[in-house]
Amino acid sequence: MEELKHIGIIMDGNGRWAKKRGLKRSFGHKEGSKTLKKLCLHLADVGVPYLSVFAFSTENFKRSQEEVDYLMDLFIEMFRKEFKVLDEKGVRVIFSGRKEPLRQDVLDSMAEITEKTKNNSKLVLNICLNYGGHSEIIDTTKKLCQQVLDGKIDIDHIDEETFEKNLYQELPPIDLLIRTSGEYRISNFMLWQMSYSEFYFTDTLFPDFNSEELDQIIEKYYQRDRKFGGVKG
Ligand code: FPP
Repeated sequence: MEELKHIGIIMDGNGRWAKKRGLKRSFGHKEGSKTLKKLCLHLADVGVPYLSVFAFSTENFKRSQEEVDYLMDLFIEMFRKEFKVLDEKGVRVIFSGRKEPLRQDVLDSMAEITEKTKNNSKLVLNICLNYGGHSEIIDTTKKLCQQVLDGKIDIDHIDEETFEKNLYQELPPIDLLIRTSGEYRISNFMLWQMSYSEFYFTDTLFPDFNSEELDQIIEKYYQRDRKFGGVKG
């Protein structure tokens, strides 16, 4: 079985987790952020080198102003304080997404954690924040068009490799995609990178998801037979 290099997680179900307990949705996000921290520490231990997570989609701006503000404040708190332990563990934090219309204080905290952790090499945590899979493909296309217009590359040299190199981040393909909370959708997450991913859907709400369940999923991943369009014995 292909070695597992890159896991993607659509961290869904924070709101329902809170609602079930009669709490505000924000409690679910807070709890979800603790789960994310634990999963990163675990993956750094077991040696999976890349984790991409969907923290905030371009569509999430449609939520109430209160919830959007809460999430943005939570991101800042995580990047400035709570992620210290991840930095110490050797986690490198990078981001995928558009800057517009993120608040300047959010952008600043993102730049700080990126800079602070840039030499870490245990685990790359790619946080998709204000991210959309279609937007990423459009932005990459524009970047390449500009390079052609500037005479830097020839149009015939645009191939999969060049395209990949110009995505928001240079990452290996996602081998394993996990979505929590019993929804069976991709929701515009890393479309280019997921062309050959194995998919796992679990009913567990993200705040309840843990390293044990992740290990079980990883074990199942290694039992699957990935053919990449070919035939295997
Ligand atoms: C989806 O659950 C979750 C989100 C939109 C936010 C994800 C954010 C975190 C886990 C917080 C921590 C992240 C970082 C990067 C520090 P939902 O609100 O759609 O849940 P629901 O479907 O039950 O309503």
